[in-house]
Formats: sequence, C-alpha cells, structure tokens
Amino acid sequence: MLIQNHTASASILGTGSYLPERIMTNAELEKMVDTNDEWIRTRTGIQERRIAAPNETTSDMAAAAARAALENAGIEAQEISMIICATVTPDMFFPNTACFVQAKIGATNAVCFDVSAACSGFLYALEIARQFIAVSPEKTILVIGADKLSSIVNWEDRNTCVLFGDGAGAAILRHRAGGSGIITTSMGSDGKLADILYTPGGGSAAPTTSENVSEKLATIRMNGRETYKQAVKAMVDSSQQALLQAGITIDQISCIIPHQANLRIIETIANRLHVSLDKFHLNLDRFGNTSAAAVAIALDEAARTRNFKQGDLILLVVFGGGLTWAASVIQW
Ligand code: UT7
Repeated sequence: MLIQNHTASASILGTGSYLPERIMTNAELEKMVDTNDEWIRTRTGIQERRIAAPNETTSDMAAAAARAALENAGIEAQEISMIICATVTPDMFFPNTACFVQAKIGATNAVCFDVSAACSGFLYALEIARQFIAVSPEKTILVIGADKLSSIVNWEDRNTCVLFGDGAGAAILRHRAGGSGIITTSMGSDGKLADILYTPGGGSAAPTTSENVSEKLATIRMNGRETYKQAVKAMVDSSQQALLQAGITIDQISCIIPHQANLRIIETIANRLHVSLDKFHLNLDRFGNTSAAAVAIALDEAARTRNFKQGDLILLVVFGGGLTWAASVIQW
C-alpha cells in the first residue's frame, strides 16, 4: 500500500519582540570590572545591552514578545494550540516558562513546554513546531526565545559579563495554503564540548548550598577562544548544509539572521560564505548576546525594517552551549 505524504508546511504568521527598558552601557561596565569601551567594541561589536528589572522574569519578557507577535499576526491568544519557549533562564526549574506565558497571555487552549538548547534554542523550537504542523496542520504554534542572562552572569568576571543582555522574541507558526514557510533546518550538537560554555552549578550535579555559594557555581563559565572557533565552524557548516538541503545558493538569500554573539564571528562567517555583511541583520551593538532571544529579536526587527516580501528567502543561523547549532531556510 502506498503511504501518501500528508505533511503540511509551516509559515510565519507574525513576529514580536521585547527588550527591557534599562540600558547598560560599556561605560557603566568600566565601573564594575577591569574593562573599557574600546576593548568591548573592537573585540565584540557591543556598545550597550538591556538589563531586565530585578522583579522582571523571563516569562514576563516572553509574554510581552508573544503579545506583540499575536498583534502582528492578527490572531487571538485562544487560537494558540501550543507554546514552545526556548530558554536557559526559566523563571523556575518547574513549572516550565511556557506555562507561565500561557497564563499571562490567556492562551487557554495551548499545550506548553520549554526547550533547553542555550543560544540555539529558538531554532530548535521552530523546527519542533514545524514538525508538529507537518503532521497536524490545524495547529497554531507560538515559538518564543527568551532569556534573562543577567540573572546567571558573574558580574565580577570581565570575560563574560560584558557580553550578555536580556530580552525575548516570538514567532507564530501556522500552515498557510500555498506558502512554503520553513523550508529546511540543519541541526547538530556536540556534548563532548559541554564544558567550554556552561553553568556548572545550581542543577542536580552541584546544587547551590550555603557552603558553595561563594564559588558562584550557578553563573556562566566560558572558554571564549574555543567557543569562538567552534561557533564559526558550526555556523558556516550548518548554513551550507541548510542551503544544500533547500537546493538553493547563498545568492538567492535576501537576508541572513545570525546569532548575535560577536561581530568578528559574523564577519568571518560572511567571508567564508562569500557574502556581503550587508545581508546580515545585526543588532548586537544595541542588545549584546541575548541567548535564545537573539535570533528571534533580530527576525522580528528585520521583518519590520527590511520590508520582507512574500517569497523572500531568509537564512537563520545559531550556535550555543551544549554545544548546539542550527541553520534554517525560511521562505517569507
Ligand atoms: O552565545 C554563545 C556563543 N558565544 C560566543 O560565540 C562567544 C565566543 N567568544 C568570543 O566572542 C570572544 O572569544 C570573546 C569576546 C569572549 C573574547 O575575545 P578574544 O579576542 O577571544 O579575547 P581573549 O579571550 O583571547 O582575551 C584577550 C585578552 C586577554 O588578556 P591577555 O591574557 O591577552 O592579557 C583577556 O584577559 O583580553 C582580556 N580580556 C579583556 N580585557 C578587557 C578578556 N575580557 C576582557 C574585557 N575587557 N572584558
């Protein structure tokens, strides 16, 4: 018996993002650790980042981005059948952050869960949503990337504290007749390199105790140089793989939305892919590295400011702790 292929495509119906009000400049960081504006700008491209208020949670930011995406898509919260939130800074270990978002936006018909893939989380979540829609085309899925990295940064470590910021981005996916949506995603992971970018404590391996609290185990540790090297390789390779899978060349891509970790990494990727830096949508100068939120915020910004037209091909590419990486080709 022949099995017919009933898979449906998943299109992006709308996007939204949220950035906290408080701006932390490089000058402010100069007063906190032994660093300077010139070093941060030339080594990373970052000029300022946003920092959430102490009582502002990851789910608060995620809900704000979700509301903006609902408005942009022109749909009601009750139409959402699933919420997938990518984050490594959940409000709590459980319940999951997506459940908190559900309650905040009134998405009463949604099934909710989180995805943990560090800075790659948004594309991992997007691909999970695509796979759900492929077999259940009636689903409307809210995908969120949200992180409050300021809550796990060691503010005494100049190697990391200058790099990160807080924020959230969201996209709503639904099958659209005649639309292509997410064409393909290339994904990968390498758990052997977990210890080049991680948070050693606070979990079951090393719970925070009164004895170890001074060691700040529940904050980010990073081997910057090694992470840099792996990030370039993984993002170049996965971009090429995604283009191959989609059967297109880089010249057909109208906009590339990369993870916003370091301008030098993005320049190297542009060189290796033989594509102009102008094609990349960048916002790390204003927001720094917001982990799972970075590519989601940049997608929302690019969709609003770069005048995406139906049929435009967009490449999203990410890299993060795990290690994890992914690249997706999307047709608008
Ligand atoms: O989101 C997940 C992916 N994350 C990334 O992709 C991040 C990847 N890594 C990077 O972006 C870069 O490695 C960093 C921006 C983190 C560091 O840049 P780098 O050019 O690799 O610098 P480095 O780590 O090799 O350090 C160079 C020097 C060192 O001093 P010495 O040993 O040469 O005397 C550091 O101690 O810069 C020093 N340094 C700083 N100086 C002033 C490190 N951080 C700072 C700082 N301010 N904030």
